[in-house]
Amino acid sequence: MAYQQGLYPLIKKQNLAKNIYDFTLLCPEIAKEALAGQFVHIKADGFLLRRPISICGINRQKGTLRIVFEIRGQGTEQIAGINEGELVDMIAPLGKGFTLLAKDKKAIVVGGGIGVPPMLEVASHYRENAAAIIGFRNAAAVILDKDFEKNWNKVILCTDDGSAGQKGFVTQALKSRLEAENADIIYACGPALMLKSIIDLANEYHIKCEVSLEERMACGVGACLGCACKTVKNGEEFFAHVCKDGPVFESKEVIL
Ligand SMILES: Cc1cc2nc3c(=O)[nH]c(=O)nc-3n(C[C@H](O)[C@H](O)[C@H](O)COP(=O)(O)OP(=O)(O)OC[C@H]3O[C@@H](n4cnc5c(N)ncnc54)[C@H](O)[C@@H]3O)c2cc1C
Ligand code: FES
Repeated sequence: MAYQQGLYPLIKKQNLAKNIYDFTLLCPEIAKEALAGQFVHIKADGFLLRRPISICGINRQKGTLRIVFEIRGQGTEQIAGINEGELVDMIAPLGKGFTLLAKDKKAIVVGGGIGVPPMLEVASHYRENAAAIIGFRNAAAVILDKDFEKNWNKVILCTDDGSAGQKGFVTQALKSRLEAENADIIYACGPALMLKSIIDLANEYHIKCEVSLEERMACGVGACLGCACKTVKNGEEFFAHVCKDGPVFESKEVIL
């Protein structure tokens, strides 16, 4: 699918938690084509390389995209400084998104920390047929829980210290959920260790699973080797581009 590059107005900006920003961008031609799980590549002033951010929400009627990101370094700090009404230099939509099954299938989306935002759009597809298991360090770091509820998703909120929702990791909550109810597909995004445990559970319960990977990126369109990651297909190992072949991969292809 073709991607576009342009300057798009930031029409809404919110601060969701410490160092976490929520941007709504007006970009009708991108919103029309974008899929859950794809990402945008944003130029930060003064930096050569763009910064990849997952698509958190798509509103095709209003022609908007939503992204939610955390300030990690100077690039994201610069992007977080863009104000409502200003223009964002963006290339999108990029990468391969999630496979969506029929809306009446049962899905579980699992997000850890800043891996939660890409789960919102995929969960919205399944509405009450999706359970969203979202995990954070503590209550102050919780984001988007109300947005999943607005989607009619069943929300299972976990925090490491128990200061909001249930105490413990998303993987424990996922195991309990799978014991109680079957699912047709699991989608996940978060730290590598979390993804590894989720893939193990998906294998144990024989459920299709897709994960969104993060890798440092340069071009974002498959033209360099900046984002290579080891994958396996038909028993053979090979290097894939996270930006073009992913960021979403079938869990059986991933080597973590
Ligand atoms: C496909 C994809 C989707 C992403 N989606 C989101 C999102 O929705 N929300 C969000 O907050 N972040 C997301 N990220 C991570 C985001 O791109 C990085 O945090 C950002 O590029 C860091 O830039 P910086 O200049 O602020 O920090 P830098 O100065 O470049 O780095 C600061 C710290 O962040 C680490 N870092 C930098 N890039 C990455 C990366 N790609 N993955 C993991 N660690 C990194 C560095 O190792 C360093 O420790 C995504 C990354 C990818 C590849
Ligand atoms: S970032 Fe250049 S190939 Fe992926």
